Amino acid sequence: MSDLMRLDKLLASLGEGTRTQVQAIIRAGRVCVDGKPERDAGRRIDAGKNAVTLDGRPLAYKSVRHVMMNKPGGVLTAARDKKQRTVMDLLPPLYAAMGCMPAGRLDKDTEGLLIITSDGQLAHRIISPKHDVGKVYFARVDGPLGESDIAAFAEGLHIDDAEGEFDARPAVLTIVRSGENESEACVRVTEGRYHQVKRMFAARGRKVTYLKREKIGALALDDALAPGDWREMTDEEVSRLEQEDSDA
Ligand code: URA
Repeated sequence: MSDLMRLDKLLASLGEGTRTQVQAIIRAGRVCVDGKPERDAGRRIDAGKNAVTLDGRPLAYKSVRHVMMNKPGGVLTAARDKKQRTVMDLLPPLYAAMGCMPAGRLDKDTEGLLIITSDGQLAHRIISPKHDVGKVYFARVDGPLGESDIAAFAEGLHIDDAEGEFDARPAVLTIVRSGENESEACVRVTEGRYHQVKRMFAARGRKVTYLKREKIGALALDDALAPGDWREMTDEEVSRLEQEDSDA
């Protein structure tokens, strides 16, 4: 995907005004590109390379962008979809223009921590089972959980269902609350197969009724983010994702 974006669209997506307002700002000569006033609102800008200022103030340029989102239920984890709303639709267009993509996939009904990044290497590290990056999920299920479930998860479940067959890697199940009709637990897995956590619980006879990802590696979801909220990650958070997970 090209990183080029019209100057007016870029300013608008950075929140500097509506498209009409920023066009007026550009015509007035208040915007410089690489140090020179630029009055052409249609000038194609490389958001990662060109330095753009407004009234001498550098606009927030970064060559890579990393977003932490609390993915809400009901939204697809995909770059785009013809019919349904995707996580990229929750972000200003700047992020798609810079090549940001979700690093991994959460099911439509799953909530929680999703990283959206333009850094393909970081995304690969998060997704690839080779890197063993742990993912922690909070799950609510439709019946009791006990010691035998903890042991079965620890041993590595054999999954054989309509989606296919595989041996899941050992996983850590921590029971938060067990009840006859409903239980809550946290589970830490190091792989991300299709419907992984739901299928692991299904192999133990339990249906997941609610699922939320709380952690990726050493990075926890910011609990100030309500479902649907997002923010750019701090450098410290990005480096935490690049580090080994202390829970591993
Ligand atoms: N496991 C699942 O079953 N669903 C998700 O969305 C993530 C992990």
